[in-house]
Parts: sequence; C-alpha cells; structure tokens
Amino acid sequence: MIRTSLTRWFDLTTPVIGAPMAGVSGGALVRAVSRAGGLGMIGVSGTHPADFVTEQCAIPAAEQLPFGIGLMAWTLPERPDLLDATIAAGPALVSVSFGDPAPYVGRLHDAGIAVAAQVNTVADVHRAVDAGVDVLVAQGTEAGGHTGHRATLPLLQEVLSLTDRPVVAAGGIATGRGMAAVLVAGAAGVWIGTALLSCPEGLNTPAARARVRAASGDATVLTRAFDVAQGLAWPERWPGRALVNEFSRTWHGREDQLRQDAAAAQRVVDARRTDDLENAPVYAGESVGLVTAERSATDVVRDLDAEAEKALRAVPRLLG
Ligand SMILES: Cc1cc2nc3c(=O)[nH]c(=O)nc-3n(C[C@H](O)[C@H](O)[C@H](O)COP(=O)(O)O)c2cc1C
Repeated sequence: MIRTSLTRWFDLTTPVIGAPMAGVSGGALVRAVSRAGGLGMIGVSGTHPADFVTEQCAIPAAEQLPFGIGLMAWTLPERPDLLDATIAAGPALVSVSFGDPAPYVGRLHDAGIAVAAQVNTVADVHRAVDAGVDVLVAQGTEAGGHTGHRATLPLLQEVLSLTDRPVVAAGGIATGRGMAAVLVAGAAGVWIGTALLSCPEGLNTPAARARVRAASGDATVLTRAFDVAQGLAWPERWPGRALVNEFSRTWHGREDQLRQDAAAAQRVVDARRTDDLENAPVYAGESVGLVTAERSATDVVRDLDAEAEKALRAVPRLLG
C-alpha cells in the first residue's frame, strides 16, 4: 500500500484525488473514485445552482464515503450561496482554485474543512501559503480544462522547494508509472482529471466520452476561444485545454474577431445544448491519448494504484 501525508490526513488507501471537473465529476463519479480508496471531488462552476452541490454530495455521503468539492474562486463573489452549500454538505476537502483563496479559507477552516488550491505560478504558491491553504496542487499546463502555462514537473519541483505543506501533482498523469514518478519527486499524491473522462459514472455525454477515447495526445489546444464565445468572465491568465475541433481550428488566436461575431459565438452555446462536439468544447489534457477504453472510475483508480506500487517497487533496481 502506498502511504503519504495525504493518505494519512484524509484516511485514504491510495494517494489519488479525483479532480473536480465541472460538467463531468458529479456525485456518481466521486463515489466511484472514493470506493477505490481515493478522494473524489465534485466540480462546481459559477452556473451551477446551489442545489446541485447539495444533491451531488448526498451520493457519496449516503455510503459514508469521503468526498471533496472544487470551487472556482473568481465565481464566488457573485455566488456566495455556492460556498454556503459547500460548507453545509460537509466535505473532507474543498479546493478554491483560479483566483485568490484568501477570503474563503477562514470560513472553511472554522467548519473543520481542509482547503486545497491549484497553483500555476510561484506567485500563486506564496498567495496560497499566506492564505493558510492546507494542500497545494501544482497544476501543469498539460492538464485538461482551465490551467496555466508552466509544465507539471518543473512547477512541482519548484512548489516543493517553497513549502513544507503537502503538494499534489496535477496535469498529465494517467498511468501508474506517471503517478510513481511524481511521488518519487516528492508529491504527496496525484490529482487526476483526464484519466477519468471515459468513465460511465461521469456527467459528460457518451459522445464526449467516445471522442476522448478516439483522441490523440497531440490533438489538444490551450485556448480562450470557447470562453470568449460563451461570454464567460474567466480571467485571461487561465485558458482552457480542450480537444482540437472545428471551432478551435477556426477561432483559436482570433478571439478579438470572435468577440465581434455574434453568430459564431452563438454556435458554441447551441453546440453545447445539442452535443455538437465540433463546436462545443471537450476539455481534456495531453494524457488523453492514454484513455482508450470506457471503464469504471473505481477500476481506473485501482489500476493506477496497483501499477504505481509496482513501479515504485522497481525503483531500487535503478541503483544497481
Ligand atoms: C473536463 C474538465 C473540467 C474541469 N473542471 C474543473 C473545475 O470545475 N474546477 C477545477 O478546479 N478544475 C477543473 N479542471 C481541472 C482539473 O481539476 C485538473 O487540474 C486537471 O484535470 C488535471 O490534469 P489532467 O487532466 O491531465 O489529469 C477540469 C478539467 C477537466 C479535464
């Protein structure tokens, strides 16, 4: 069994956190991750009603499984009800990413809830540490969804040099060997999203899951085009990594023109409703090429753990 400060803190049997993914990780996916001994996290965006948080959290809670909730800091000033519902749901861990976590840490700690934050730069690390964040998540640009510009491995090493708090690695980890690599580098765990994009427990559609399975790791793009089209107030420093499709091929890099083109923008809004995946975003990271089968998240996490343990047992052989 792999033990780290993360497994001890949250009483897990594997140091795997199922990343919060708005539109994908609801209660069923979280329950499946936590059944395997990891910690699943429900992804909450600024457009979810507070009832979504309450209803989805009830699913793992009904089995007394631990769960977490991932909030987006930039959405919270206008949506304090999401923070209220989060605290009321009694999660083990709440992440406050994509913005300053400082205004929220005190209330979460007062409720006995540990706080995580994804960090993308050195400045983010200092801000999170000063705010009293308990678990730092070094999120590399390889990650699916919204992310920064630095790569996972150098960022992870630098974050580890800046704090003694547990640091979890996110971005591009989808095999047990990849998991073993970051654990050997000093990470207390892994935070995996893309590896869970073809699980039947996800809230994403069967067509989106099929697209994920067919995609190569060469075919992702880090772009603001989808956010601009939808008029979302995502801060510019966090573009989103998605599968290349017709819309990104046409509009990535031409966001200023896109702002003037109401019809093109409307295409994304309509495409999301009709599951037209040539125009709607399918957020996925560079490890997408490793996701080739539809599998339960419980099996994905169990296999990741077993394969990582095997890889870690082989490490001493490198020493001759
Ligand atoms: C479809 C999708 C949706 C995401 N939504 C969120 C979110 O709602 N909140 C959040 O903090 N991170 C979100 N992320 C980022 C993940 O938390 C995580 O950093 C990323 O998936 C890790 O890299 P990987 O995809 O290479 O495993 C999302 C990622 C994906 C792929």
